[in-house]
Amino acid sequence: MSKPFDIGLDRLTGKSRGSLAREFADSGLASRGTFFLETFGCQMNEHDSEKVAGVLLSRGYRQVESPDSASLILYNTCSIREKAAQKVFSRLGEYRMKQGEGRIIGVLGCVAQQEGEEIFERAPWVSLVCGSASYRKLPELLAQVEAGNRRVTGLDTDTDETFETEMTRRDNPWRAYLTIIEGCDKACSYCVVPYTRGPERSRASDSILKEVRQLAELGYSEVQLLGQTVNSYADPAPRKMRFSDLLLSVAEAPGIRRVRFTTSHPSDFTPDIVQAIDSEPRLCDHVHLPVQSGSTRVLRAMQRTYSREEYLEKIAMIRGAKRAISITTDIIAGFPGETEDDFAETLSLLEAAQYDSMFSFKYSPRPHTPSLAMNDPVPEEEKSRRLAILQEKQREIQSARNAKLVGNSFEILVNGKSRRENQWTGHTSCHRVINFTSQEQELLGTYVQVRVTGAGPNSLVGEQI
Ligand code: 5AD
Ligand code: SF4
Repeated sequence: MSKPFDIGLDRLTGKSRGSLAREFADSGLASRGTFFLETFGCQMNEHDSEKVAGVLLSRGYRQVESPDSASLILYNTCSIREKAAQKVFSRLGEYRMKQGEGRIIGVLGCVAQQEGEEIFERAPWVSLVCGSASYRKLPELLAQVEAGNRRVTGLDTDTDETFETEMTRRDNPWRAYLTIIEGCDKACSYCVVPYTRGPERSRASDSILKEVRQLAELGYSEVQLLGQTVNSYADPAPRKMRFSDLLLSVAEAPGIRRVRFTTSHPSDFTPDIVQAIDSEPRLCDHVHLPVQSGSTRVLRAMQRTYSREEYLEKIAMIRGAKRAISITTDIIAGFPGETEDDFAETLSLLEAAQYDSMFSFKYSPRPHTPSLAMNDPVPEEEKSRRLAILQEKQREIQSARNAKLVGNSFEILVNGKSRRENQWTGHTSCHRVINFTSQEQELLGTYVQVRVTGAGPNSLVGEQI
């Protein structure tokens, strides 16, 4: 995992280096210490880390690339699947010796929220445990740690505020992530998120739009609005913007060329969102709409609030748009009690929906979730078998869909350069990866037209026009 650490504070804040240096000197925060921040998990988690890094940088800390040279070691990790907690404790074991060397060690994110004070019991060398709903309090909590307190926690989830910071240290210099809604009020029976991230809180539209304008001024041309259920957005500001109106307003910010949003919940996916995408080319033609299962019986047990038929109606609505809109999804294989017939319905839903991409997971029992108590007669090997069948089926669908794109041209935001000469990589608005050739010297961060010359299941190849 390589991240650019050389993005200047001046670029992040829009302030000159001179004025920043004076601000730090005046506040007595200059060169306070160094931090190492390790992150695992979803985009929300990655973005939380960007914000945490911003908070620390603005307090005079410097980010370093190895725990060996850090005075503060932070571990931000996700608990949505797998035995994340186990992984955390084994990593914390590696950091144990470092506490003896005077380092402060902290655990952030969903695992912190889930395990809480238990972490101090199992890893007494940890001084800070802070869940994502409490990041606003980080400066306060850090002050307590700095004052010598060895068991500092931020574990409330009842806060009705969202985590906004003065400054966010963004990892990608072209695409900026922006959380517009935190937590989740849905109660999917398999999911730990409502427990770890707390109830849904939306950020005020005026504050979002102000940050988008600042991001555009700093040179970002693509923004991705984030939320566990991003389209359940409910503006707390008096103007009460609908989600689709917010999308349109974000797209209109001068300098913004692409607006993405993820993750959408099918129940809140309304026709005005499709109309907005149709009317505004700067809204990307991609919707991530997790279905989780193709069987209405399993969807009920998952408490997903829609049936197979209702979901397919949403797909038909999106496919009915004037622009072709890519649709991607998440699926869980082997939910407790999933029968062969249920699974066959998921396979037939893949056929009907014709997704452009799919993330699929084997059901993983999580603490504090209702499905933990459900009878689960499906053996692990059977769940793995179903997952493999799903993935193979989707691979075939993607190969066929991508093959049809050969000969078409797309606008690409170039975000990578291959070691091979004249080879670049970028994303289409519909979020496909294209590896392409160009004779240009410098393309990173620019938009170019590329003609597709070949296609595989997961990416396209092409040449710049
Ligand atoms: N087991 C397996 N997959 C899960 N997801 C969420 N919780 C679980 C779980 N307990 C998947 C869902 C969700 C994605 C982010 O992770 O498919 O959409
Ligand atoms: Fe979890 Fe369901 Fe909320 Fe998504 S909508 S975060 S799966 S509870």
